[in-house]
Amino acid sequence: MTQRILILPGDGIGPEIVAEAIKVMQVFKDEGIDLDWSIGLIGGVAVDEEGAPYPESTRQAAHNCDAILLGAVGSPKHEGLPRNLRPERGLLDLRKDLDLFANLRPTIVFEELAHASPLKKDSIAGLDLLILRELTGDIYFGQPRGRRRTSDGAEEAFDTMHYSVPEIERIARIGFEAARRRSGRLCSVDKENVLETSRLWREVMIRVGSDYPDVSLSHMYVDNAAMQLLRNPKQFDVLVTGNMFGDILSDESAMLAGSIGLLPSASLNARSKGLYEPIHGSAPDLAGKGLANPLAMILSVGMMFRYTFDRIDLAQRIDSAVRSVLAAGLRSPDIAVSGEKAITTAAMGDAVVSALRS
Ligand code: NAD
Ligand code: IPM
Ligand code: MN
Repeated sequence: MTQRILILPGDGIGPEIVAEAIKVMQVFKDEGIDLDWSIGLIGGVAVDEEGAPYPESTRQAAHNCDAILLGAVGSPKHEGLPRNLRPERGLLDLRKDLDLFANLRPTIVFEELAHASPLKKDSIAGLDLLILRELTGDIYFGQPRGRRRTSDGAEEAFDTMHYSVPEIERIARIGFEAARRRSGRLCSVDKENVLETSRLWREVMIRVGSDYPDVSLSHMYVDNAAMQLLRNPKQFDVLVTGNMFGDILSDESAMLAGSIGLLPSASLNARSKGLYEPIHGSAPDLAGKGLANPLAMILSVGMMFRYTFDRIDLAQRIDSAVRSVLAAGLRSPDIAVSGEKAITTAAMGDAVVSALRS
């Protein structure tokens, strides 16, 4: 059966890293794996060409494919636009439209790169952490939001943090299932001491937890979690948290691995349809210079084979190819430390391709 992939390169470094992901998929296609892909528009390029960050043509293609690969969205050029025309809105609309509520953001510390992290090698070597971020609720989507005048004439802005029981239940179940497959430990991160949404979040986590007696559930306030991630990250195995806390903690955890250019993600709906993208953004400072690390994007292709296409063998081949190029000493600029020579985005992609073909 043909697997249909929609590729959305987006803005900034998006097209450059996506080009390397395509090379990797071509290896499998050449081996006879039945993949078929098409390219679509999202983000700033979509605003420029179609007048909307998530145009109707992309919406239809997104509904008619089996998986989506996305580079990144966002550009300085579009920063002043109204909220509904911002490139980032396109990504949020795509996630919401396909109900991609479960965002898996693994942080794996590659042995060869343990020295590239600013943290002490002992505290991070061997780390394998999964941040499970709820992706379609919370303050990102809560209504009402907007701007108004107060009665005494001051301008004010407001967002609404919002979670319903079903929204929390379904992400909780994904968290418990993931913990069950891994170490049996799940840490739920909230701000229960202050927020109503977090009080409900914690109640629901505990209630759902009674269906998973084999998983040990703990709770941590998000401020402490941010600190503990740096102090002793190996105390965690699976972290489950809301949309905004997960956004922030996953960028923080990138520094455990050494660079945000290494962290892939999968965003799944109830039918395991997936959007696969690096956790990083469009890095306008690097765009067009061949300086971006394509490994987060390439590892996202691996996650696509694992979670949507159920081809764990191919996912493992991608993971091992990435490990082998790192073991061979190849480095993009973001992970090159103490005099290590850096190679370009394309050279890194080519190295992964030759490792896959060998
Ligand atoms: P960013 O992730 O783009 O960049 C943060 C830092 O990480 C920069 O120093 C950048 O050079 C570096 N970096 C990012 N990706 C890298 C890679 N592959 N290799 C090497 N270094 C890399 O975040 P930002 O600067 O806060 O945001 C820039 C734009 O991206 C904004 O428009 C923002 O809204 C958007 N954004 C999009 C996504 C997404 O598409 N999923 C995620 C985050 C930010
Ligand atoms: C991410 C990004 C997005 C988010 C932005 C670009 C909407 O930061 O994927 O982590 O906040 O979810
Ligand atoms: Mn983010």
